[in-house]
Amino acid sequence: MKPKILVTREIFDDVLDYLRQHFDVADNQADTPMDAGTLAKNLADKTGAMTTLVDRVDAQLLSGCPKLKAVCNIAVGFNNIDLGACSKAGVMATNTPGVLDDSTADFTWALILSTARRVVESDAHVRARQWKGWYLKQFLGADVHHATLGILGFGRIGRRVARRAMGFDMTVLYHDTQPADAATERSCNAAYVSMDELLARADILTIHVPYAPSTHHVVGAPELAKMKPGAILIHASRGGVVDDAALVAALKSGRLAGAGLDVYENEPALNPEFLAMKNVVLTPHIASSSEATRHAMAMLAAQNLVAALTTGRPPNLLNP
Ligand code: DGY
Repeated sequence: MKPKILVTREIFDDVLDYLRQHFDVADNQADTPMDAGTLAKNLADKTGAMTTLVDRVDAQLLSGCPKLKAVCNIAVGFNNIDLGACSKAGVMATNTPGVLDDSTADFTWALILSTARRVVESDAHVRARQWKGWYLKQFLGADVHHATLGILGFGRIGRRVARRAMGFDMTVLYHDTQPADAATERSCNAAYVSMDELLARADILTIHVPYAPSTHHVVGAPELAKMKPGAILIHASRGGVVDDAALVAALKSGRLAGAGLDVYENEPALNPEFLAMKNVVLTPHIASSSEATRHAMAMLAAQNLVAALTTGRPPNLLNP
């Protein structure tokens, strides 16, 4: 008999076929979101799960799933999973690192350019048939070329964002818990600075740190107050890293010129004040969402699950 697994949301058909070769699969191709109670009920008799970042995997859920051996998240971020509770329950947890870095870096650049050059706002203007013709001061934006890009979090994604900045002749500064090696800095044309210097010098600050208790509100009111007046903030890592209420205040006061946001606190119920701001570009947590990358994420999660339940050694184990 094949082990029973649950796939909590819709996935690509070929990934589902691959899973069916190994498992008795309960799928959710109708893509109906599961609340905590439904997830607990559907997972109660399963040995494995493919989850997404909206599925909370904690001690309470695990207590009702005695057969569960592996939870494989279709995301590189795993703040929806309580790793301690998984280890205690003997459940392997995995994520999908590596396959989404370039797509996320590309999208970061989409946010940078569309925020600095007011692409979304001017698109809405044209669609509303408000465009009456060319004039000199129409939709004046901020130049990206030759500006200073500040990168908070210099991991795989932050480094790819840096490399893309070379084409724009930018000065690239970064901050992380520790500096990268000299060869990496050279290949990214980036220099390590303190957090305070990063905030003070960046014309555009882009955030690429994962969410954890230690990174909660790492950019809050005190940090925003240290940013260069008129700077732009870009955020495509994880809700909670930025204090959204403080960001709203910084945008309202004019301290910041704009923001490009893909992630929010309390997704999808983002702070409603963002909606009224024309200088903010809002996207629905889609930075990794190219067809190829989302497919690669799903396939990697499926491969993790197959490895976890057949060998006990999934390649992207988070709690060895
Ligand atoms: C991740 O992988 O953590 C992303 O946020 C999902 O696109």
